[in-house]
Amino acid sequence: MTDFHHALHSLKVWDTELPSFDPASAPPEPLPLFHDWFTAAVAAGQTEPHTLSLATADEDGRPDVRTVMLHDADARGWHFASHSTSAKGRQLAARPEAALGFYWPFQGRQVRIRGHVTTGTSEEAYADLHARTTGALASALVGRQSEVLDSSDTLAEASAAAWRRAEAEPDAPAPSWTLYVVEPAEVEFFQGDGRRRHQRLRYRRDPAAGGGWLRELLWP
Ligand SMILES: Cc1cc2nc3c(=O)[nH]c(=O)nc-3n(C[C@H](O)[C@H](O)[C@H](O)COP(=O)(O)O)c2cc1C
Repeated sequence: MTDFHHALHSLKVWDTELPSFDPASAPPEPLPLFHDWFTAAVAAGQTEPHTLSLATADEDGRPDVRTVMLHDADARGWHFASHSTSAKGRQLAARPEAALGFYWPFQGRQVRIRGHVTTGTSEEAYADLHARTTGALASALVGRQSEVLDSSDTLAEASAAAWRRAEAEPDAPAPSWTLYVVEPAEVEFFQGDGRRRHQRLRYRRDPAAGGGWLRELLWP
């Protein structure tokens, strides 16, 4: 067995004390439950619970996925930010649909969200970026995300210049920086269980109920 296979096969999931989840006591809407689970993940010491997988599809329907940071989750939806000129930005312009995935292993919890994607105004994107760290601004000012880079030296120069500008000019705009909001059509909560009797609760928008939510249990 290679080191890789040895390491891979030595790993387990759901072998720690996991919280219980009773879908019957879940709220009628997914947002309060997401807020509860997120807060509990932070309290449990889950590392970086605000990072999520963002899946999009390109014009030909080919899927793509990457990690981004959660900027908010409110009545509008789940917010993240990126460059409109990046691969994901181009994919979302062509097909404004996305799926999001959170995994919080400390509690054996997963949350999945699917929905239509809208963009915030440029004022919102500006406010979102300028409420963040100097590093976030410097990173946004570098720009050219997902373009082919000719060398690491080119990046080092561009990054140093962006840091100088972010420090000297904290109000500097990053025009392609865009706030995206995923308006949930489906939100699924998964609670892992040591005996594999995982609980899955899916909320689905019910067009017949004027935008209310249907709640369904799913087989694990
Ligand atoms: C922990 C983590 C957080 C990240 N957060 C963001 C983010 O909030 N926005 C962003 O544009 N890229 C973020 N990235 C980088 C993306 O994963 C990705 O490399 C980049 O956005 C280019 O993706 P694209 O080519 O699919 O557009 C993050 C990466 C990691 C590992």
